[in-house]
Amino acid sequence: MVKAGLEDIVAAESSICDVDGTAGRLIYRGYDIHDLAENSTFEEVIYLLWFGQLPTKSELDKLTKDLNSNRALPKPVIDALHNYPKKALPMEVLRTAVSMLSMYDPDGDDNSIPASTRKATRLMAQFPTIVAYWDCIRNGRDLKAPKEDLTIAANFLYMLKGETPDEVSTKSLDIALILHADHELNASTFAGRVAAATLTDMYSAVVAAIGTLKGPLHGGANQEVIKMLIEINDPEKAKAYVEKKLAEHQKMMGFGHRVYKTEDPRAHHLRIMSEELGKRLKDERWYKMSREIEEVVFKQKGLYANVDFYSASVYYMLGIPIDLFTPIFAISRMSGWAAHILEQLSNNRLIRPRADYTGARNLKYAAITSR
Ligand code: CMC
Repeated sequence: MVKAGLEDIVAAESSICDVDGTAGRLIYRGYDIHDLAENSTFEEVIYLLWFGQLPTKSELDKLTKDLNSNRALPKPVIDALHNYPKKALPMEVLRTAVSMLSMYDPDGDDNSIPASTRKATRLMAQFPTIVAYWDCIRNGRDLKAPKEDLTIAANFLYMLKGETPDEVSTKSLDIALILHADHELNASTFAGRVAAATLTDMYSAVVAAIGTLKGPLHGGANQEVIKMLIEINDPEKAKAYVEKKLAEHQKMMGFGHRVYKTEDPRAHHLRIMSEELGKRLKDERWYKMSREIEEVVFKQKGLYANVDFYSASVYYMLGIPIDLFTPIFAISRMSGWAAHILEQLSNNRLIRPRADYTGARNLKYAAITSR
């Protein structure tokens, strides 16, 4: 009997990321996620994921310069963004714009590892621009040229809101980006690796990954969480709301995980941020509701909050529009996707599993008139 969903199947060897679901540990290239969340920056983590070690100062300066100088989008891509229907979902826009960008990449159809690394750098730089520009375009705001002296987190908030963000907002987003950067063979990364293994190009593999992340069982869950919190709107009503949902056998978005059987270590940092941002805004509703929900879901179902649960209230309190939550996940995960695609290319074999056939056999073709 095949276990549905490839559960527990080891499908690749990888030195990028380890998820220990029993101990609740997450490691990027040997470094514990808690250490990285508390001490590093997203740019350092990108270097770590792509090149296997933490950068020296000059290595980090070089990568930062490459990332910061590649943020602008080609004019035809900006023109296309202006022509998309205003109701287009940001994840649809990201998927489509990334696909279009491949036709303007200076490395063209060179899919060697050095060229693919350059393509990944451009994509990493341009993802935030696409997301921020789309929000400006659909709301009729002017587009801000990216600022090269700002970090990825600060520049994204700047392009989105039109003003340089404060330190707390920048730091919160930076930590969220670190926490979402990679997660072993999650569904979107696996999709990216499957595509890459056919020796297609970096853009095609990333488009496959974006489309996969969009689903509500994966990156789309954070948007569903905030919709639920808005619907509840009062910590006093949270318990009854959850009890009703569970009694109706409905899924609680932001809970459960295929690998973690204990607390998702990423949720720990996001929970702290959610509490701190609430205090800062003098509106602890979102955090308090989240805590209530967490308690009831654990008591009744034994399920822990995953990364999407507290990231929802964090992004909401940072003033980020709800349908940009999953694109922000994509901005961060672009770093992990690229690391995995490059790793796949460095030791490639086509990924082609088998299916256990359960259909009919030995049927005889009958002419349509006699069926
Ligand atoms: N709410 C209620 N029940 C749940 C939930 C949940 N969120 N998650 C799992 N269960 C129950 C499920 O009903 C099933 O119970 P039973 O055996 O009685 O039918 C049991 O737990 C196993 O669930 P499953 O859906 O077979 O587990 P899975 O490993 O296939 O799914 C999951 C993992 C993350 C898709 C699932 O937990 C889920 O749908 N969670 C909600 C969506 C979500 O938050 N997704 C984000 C995942 S973390 C970030 C990411 O990777 O993108």
